Amino acid sequence: MKTKAAILREAGKDFEVTELDLDPPKAGEVLIRYVAAGLCHSDEHLRHGDIVPRFPMVGGHEGAGIIEEVGAGVTRLAPGDHVVCSFVPVCGHCRWCSTGKSNLCDLGATVLDGCLPDGTYRFHQDGVDLGGMCMLGTFSERAVISEHSAIKVDDDLPLDKVVLVGCGVPTGFGSAVHAAATEPGDTIAIYGIGGVGINSVQGAALAGARHVVAIDPLANKREMAQRLGATHTCATAEEAQDLIAQLTCGVGADKAIVTVDVVTADVVTHAFNAIRKGGTVVVTSLADPTKVTIQLSGALLTLFEKRIQGSLFGSGDPFHDIPRMIELYRSGHLKLDELITQTYSLEQINQGYRDLLDGKNIRGVIRYDS
Ligand SMILES: NC(=O)c1ccc[n+]([C@@H]2O[C@H](COP(=O)([O-])OP(=O)(O)OC[C@H]3O[C@@H](n4cnc5c(N)ncnc54)[C@H](O)[C@@H]3O)[C@@H](O)[C@H]2O)c1
Ligand SMILES: [Zn+2]
Ligand SMILES: [Zn+2]
Repeated sequence: MKTKAAILREAGKDFEVTELDLDPPKAGEVLIRYVAAGLCHSDEHLRHGDIVPRFPMVGGHEGAGIIEEVGAGVTRLAPGDHVVCSFVPVCGHCRWCSTGKSNLCDLGATVLDGCLPDGTYRFHQDGVDLGGMCMLGTFSERAVISEHSAIKVDDDLPLDKVVLVGCGVPTGFGSAVHAAATEPGDTIAIYGIGGVGINSVQGAALAGARHVVAIDPLANKREMAQRLGATHTCATAEEAQDLIAQLTCGVGADKAIVTVDVVTADVVTHAFNAIRKGGTVVVTSLADPTKVTIQLSGALLTLFEKRIQGSLFGSGDPFHDIPRMIELYRSGHLKLDELITQTYSLEQINQGYRDLLDGKNIRGVIRYDS
């Protein structure tokens, strides 16, 4: 079958919307018709060239849609099922999956190749294979994905809203709740309030933090942070450092979470200096993997017993956390509708990423019906 998709052919070039051939699902795979796809900064890393995938690649790793066909052996999903995709596949039985760390599943090894778990590709154009970002390729009307990437959700949920629960929400929320282990009474500093960071704000507030300090140079981001649980906002890390010192009588924040667009040694150093003895800096943001983006005094790390903790998918378990986030959305504890500041058609994808870079959106979303 044919599908229209937004693809990247090389680093530094815009997305190209083009028609691809799509194979039917093989064993353990499903054909999905995407209803919506979120515009996360991680795809912008590929477009920009910070992170280099196998090209050409179908972009998009935040997606929700409806299953249209299932391959041999798929019993957990059926045509007509509504699903949210997890940007990390979960096999359920590798060392990491079987020890409660399924966000680190071994199937994640090829997410930047975008092939299916059997090592082959379902998207093609003129004899060339294309992978899908994170094994998903949500910037396509349809895709064939592994059953390990799809979590069934209730039919009545608005897929164009719960799509955010495929990446930005569990990543940000879990960075605060799992990786930072926010406790009631904590002071939490969050650097960067985009589609990920705003959910760290929500997570920290729900976990009972007394002070949630949201740091972002952009006023619209700080306003949204305040609406969704931040107790204080700052435009700069320096301002935050002074404020945190005041709020904690000079002790420092319990935890700091780095969710800026591109992680730098500078922002990690600010976060490290803002935390107390025994505190934790959670690094969720990505950057060019060949660059050194953490440069700290080892002596201070030792003497103050500070911790630096990386976090992938909010350090949670996708098959547990995605349904959990949806329950919190239903009960009104977690806001999703408010996070979607603009919707786009697939053809408008480059405008969507320009808006992301211009800081206009909390999260932009492609809707395939628009
Ligand atoms: N670890 C994971 O599992 C995971 C998952 C998804 C995204 N990410 C990464 O998380 C990062 C954030 O993604 P996003 O989609 O929220 O990006 P975004 O572009 O929507 O938001 C980034 C925000 O950071 C702000 N910012 C930039 N420099 C800053 C600074 N020095 N101090 C404070 N704020 C600053 C920007 O104004 C913007 O509001 C990206 O690097 C992305 O690749 C990681
Ligand atoms: Zn993402
Ligand atoms: Zn696994």
